[in-house]
Amino acid sequence: MIAAAQSASNSSALNQWSVVAVTDAELKQQISDKVARSVPVARIPWIEEAPALLLWVGDLSRGAEITKEAGEVPFVFDYLDSMLMASIDASLAAQNAAVAAESMGLGIVYLGVMRNIARDIAEMINLPPHSFVTFGMAVGRPDTSRTSGIRPRPAQPMVLHHNQYEQGRYRDYLDDYENAYKAFRNSQNMSTKTWVGAVIESATSIDYMGGREQLRETLTERGFKLK
Ligand SMILES: Cc1cc2nc3c(=O)[nH]c(=O)nc-3n(C[C@H](O)[C@H](O)[C@H](O)COP(=O)(O)O)c2cc1C
Repeated sequence: MIAAAQSASNSSALNQWSVVAVTDAELKQQISDKVARSVPVARIPWIEEAPALLLWVGDLSRGAEITKEAGEVPFVFDYLDSMLMASIDASLAAQNAAVAAESMGLGIVYLGVMRNIARDIAEMINLPPHSFVTFGMAVGRPDTSRTSGIRPRPAQPMVLHHNQYEQGRYRDYLDDYENAYKAFRNSQNMSTKTWVGAVIESATSIDYMGGREQLRETLTERGFKLK
C-alpha cells in the first residue's frame, strides 16, 4: 500500500506528506475513544476493530527544518496554498494506497473525523510543527457477514462539463440520484434520508463539524499561518 502511495504524483516532487501506521491496539483504542466523544457516539467499531489505522499527514515539517537548517526562513509555508498542496499530496497518496488495498482484498474506510481531534491527535502521535493529520484510514479485512455494497454515484453529467461549467444542470439529475440513493439505503437497512437532506444537514449543522470548526486555530498553532 505504501509503495503504491509513494508512486502517486506529488507536487514539485517535494514529497510533502507522511503516513503514521497505528497498529498499537491501546493507542488505536485511545484515538477511537477520543474521536467517538467528538462525534459524539459510544464507539466507532470500524476504527476499533480494524487492525491498522493509517493517519495521512500533510507534512511541511521536513521542508521547514531543511530550510531553517540552511539559515533561510520558510515563509512560503505561511500561505494557504502550502497547506493545500500538502493536503492534496497526502490525498493522492492515500487514494493510491486505497486502490492497492482493495486489489489485495482488504477494505478501507477514510476518516475525516480525525480532524475533529486535530490538536489531540497531533500530540498523541508526536507530530512535528508544520504537519497535521489530514484524515485517517482504517484498514482491515471486510467482514463478509455484514451487509455492504457500492454506494451509487450521480449520473456523469452531474459532475462532467465540457469546456464551460453549465451552472444548475445538476438539477436535471437529482431525481434519479435520489431514487438510487433511496434504493441503496433500503437495500442496506440504513435509516431513511434523502441525499438533498444530507447535503443540507452537512451545510447547516455545526454538530456535523464535531470540532472541525476549530481547525484553523489548530493549524495556526501548528505553524500554518494560512495567509
Ligand atoms: C476524505 C474522506 C473522509 C471521510 N470521512 C469519513 C468518516 O469520518 N467516517 C466514515 O465513516 N466515513 C468517512 N468517509 C467515507 C465516505 O462516507 C464514503 O467514502 C462515501 O460514503 C462513499 O462510499 P464508498 O467509499 O463506499 O464508495 C470519508 C471519505 C472521504 C473521501
